[in-house]
Amino acid sequence: MKLIEVKDYDEMSQRAADCIIEKIHSTKKPVLGLATGGTPKGLYEALIHDHEQNGTSYGNVTSFNLDEYIGLPKEDPNSYYHYMESNLFNHIDIPEEAVHLPSGTKEDLEEECKDYDAMIEKTGGIDLQLLGIGENGHIGFNEPGTSFASGTHIVDLAQSTREANARYFDSLEEVPKRAITMGIATIMKSREIVLLVSGKAKQEAMKRLFEGDITEDFPASILNQHPHVTVIADEEALGLV
Ligand code: GLP
Repeated sequence: MKLIEVKDYDEMSQRAADCIIEKIHSTKKPVLGLATGGTPKGLYEALIHDHEQNGTSYGNVTSFNLDEYIGLPKEDPNSYYHYMESNLFNHIDIPEEAVHLPSGTKEDLEEECKDYDAMIEKTGGIDLQLLGIGENGHIGFNEPGTSFASGTHIVDLAQSTREANARYFDSLEEVPKRAITMGIATIMKSREIVLLVSGKAKQEAMKRLFEGDITEDFPASILNQHPHVTVIADEEALGLV
């Protein structure tokens, strides 16, 4: 893994935006893997700014998001679909049909998982996958204990993850208990991965990522085995490394 140590959240966001813009310019039909959460918001702001100022076009881009809550329809303000629309898609020229998130409202969710992996394969695979990390090392919604061989699947969210994400909901009870997420194997098939990490809350996770064993108990540890991972982390996040 390559580590880029940056000063703060803003610098992390700008460096990540540079990686994505470079990928868009250097790839004929770029396929981007996108993430949600608090961490990538500044990056999306930087992409929108660049789109408006420099005209970077997303006309040839296809995107696949990592995950979605089960039971929240697209228009729910807490759905990841809604997050992506309001934080990025509504502000750039990516075609609507080129945007993909797993659906958490399909009747047959098992089929949705298979279809999602098949769709990614059909586009030729993900060129650059963006990741955040949970305090317990989860990537996407792959909680500790998830098989490294997993494709897109349904997960029961860890209580700690629901608590961490409760800040976006009116109450903890409203946070869905299940989600659909790209699996670890799905993520590892991406040709390149950029992991963004900011803030003190992620210090332990960074220590374990760089110094710990590769184990399913800490899902992000598998990234040590990927040939092309860049970690962009700020000083606070790297406080224990
Ligand atoms: C969420 C998302 C992850 C995200 C992580 C960290 O549960 N499913 O994709 O990386 O938690 O979130 P944040 O960036 O808000 O710390």
